[in-house]
Amino acid sequence: MENEFLKKVKARIDGSIIITDEEIMAPHLIDWRGNFKGHAKAILMPTNTKMVSTIMKIANDENQTIVPQGGNTGLVGGGIPNQTGESIILSLKKMNSIIEFSPVNRTITVQSGCILQRIHEVVENENLYFPLNLAARGSCTIGGNLATNAGGLNVLRYGTMREQCIGLEIVLADGTIINELTNLRKDNTGYDLKNLFVGSEGTLGIITGACLKLFSKPLTRVTTLAVIQKFEHGLKLLDRLQHQSGDQVESFEIMPKTLLDIVYKQFPDISHPIKLETGFILLMEVSSSKLDKFESSNLENYNLRNIMEIFLENSMKENLISDAVVASNEAQRKAFWAIRENAPLATRKESWPVNTDISVRRDKLAQFYRHASNEVAKISNNSRICGYGHVGDGNLHFNVVEAEEGDPDWADKRGAILEAIYSSLAKFDGSISAEHGIGQLKTDQLIKTKDPNHYRIMTLIKNSFDPKNILNPDRIIK
Ligand code: FAD
Ligand code: LAC
Ligand code: ZN
Repeated sequence: MENEFLKKVKARIDGSIIITDEEIMAPHLIDWRGNFKGHAKAILMPTNTKMVSTIMKIANDENQTIVPQGGNTGLVGGGIPNQTGESIILSLKKMNSIIEFSPVNRTITVQSGCILQRIHEVVENENLYFPLNLAARGSCTIGGNLATNAGGLNVLRYGTMREQCIGLEIVLADGTIINELTNLRKDNTGYDLKNLFVGSEGTLGIITGACLKLFSKPLTRVTTLAVIQKFEHGLKLLDRLQHQSGDQVESFEIMPKTLLDIVYKQFPDISHPIKLETGFILLMEVSSSKLDKFESSNLENYNLRNIMEIFLENSMKENLISDAVVASNEAQRKAFWAIRENAPLATRKESWPVNTDISVRRDKLAQFYRHASNEVAKISNNSRICGYGHVGDGNLHFNVVEAEEGDPDWADKRGAILEAIYSSLAKFDGSISAEHGIGQLKTDQLIKTKDPNHYRIMTLIKNSFDPKNILNPDRIIK
């Protein structure tokens, strides 16, 4: 017998937005890492906000649980339904139009299913820049980026997704449309509702549209790989480069040798621009929307390339950096980034790693790294510690990969390793989720670590926006 909810959707919208074909549904029912698998009655693919509103009205009447989904690149299982098969996935993928692009206002207004990379391409044609950047840019959507408050590779300079968002359009659990799709940079007319929805992971409303802030497109980029022996040297170098470049550091990423070896092993065709026996590599990028007039003979010329070269020269003299290579063209720059951007896929191919997404204040990060590494070694001294990532933001993916020779007890040790990392984190007052969110992966850890009063207010907010608990239930709050 046909489900009442789907029957009403067919009658009030159109049956063509309902997908029940198992083969088409399959990739929507498993997450990128393969850690979460779910079932659903169907996937709905509306093409406009009115349809989303009608769907939610029917869902609210029929007590139908709805799981919003964008590009399904999320790393905490937030967009994957549970295993009961009772939920409906609401995919925003077909809502991918650009509503308005205003180079003069430096804003772009889009439907939430727009793919991140498409926004990059559209605005860069007009010499503008939408900064949010992450390895999943070819498939993640603006709605998913907002719902997770995504971070990525240049938060250091531009902030997280929250800071890129000027206006939002949202459909609530009962179908009400909140039109805050403003393109005003300044608007202090009461409570800032949009910021409740940014980072809410589909639990408070469906994001259907967004107005985003644009910047001048960087015309000069100086990208460097450098070898350091000690993690703390990275932090010292970051502070120095921020000062010396006049705060033009766009990215500052770290990768340990253990991880580099895994990337090279899993991607044999990737170039090896720098060698290291021990320690870490830094990937540093400074950028400017001014064209650089680099003249190697004149180091007094304060442009970015000179600044980088002087910085490297001095840091090598002080033994903070042992080797470095500066990209000499765009192809080389891309090759440097390929090493970093393939890190998540390389570790996934190598083994079933313990993944985390932690943040610790910058001046404590090196101590945390040492402490957590020691604690992990007590459980598994031959596992490979691959703490890498956005060191400039105090955010590391402190991941642990099974020993190269294999470990028959790996599946049992994973839980203890995660516990050890989280207890180290507690000692340094860090966060269990810097940028990926809570989803279904970290709900228990959230209860353990969040201030209880804050947690209680989150439940009150959830209950007032979604009293029937039909929007992505059991995600973030259990
Ligand atoms: P989905 O995975 O589809 O959904 C994510 C969450 O948002 C779910 O809870 C879902 O219910 C909700 N949601 C989706 N769309 C909507 C909507 N329109 N309205 C309401 N709720 C919605 N993340 C970072 O922060 N930084 C990184 O550097 C980074 N690198 C990554 C690299 C790789 C290779 C991969 C696979 C992922 C990476 N991620 C990173 C994680 C992921 O790309 C981001 O979380 C991204 O923002 C998710 O977008 P999505 O469209 O795929 O969302
Ligand atoms: C990264 C993802 C995992 O930074 O956030 O590679
Ligand atoms: Zn990351």
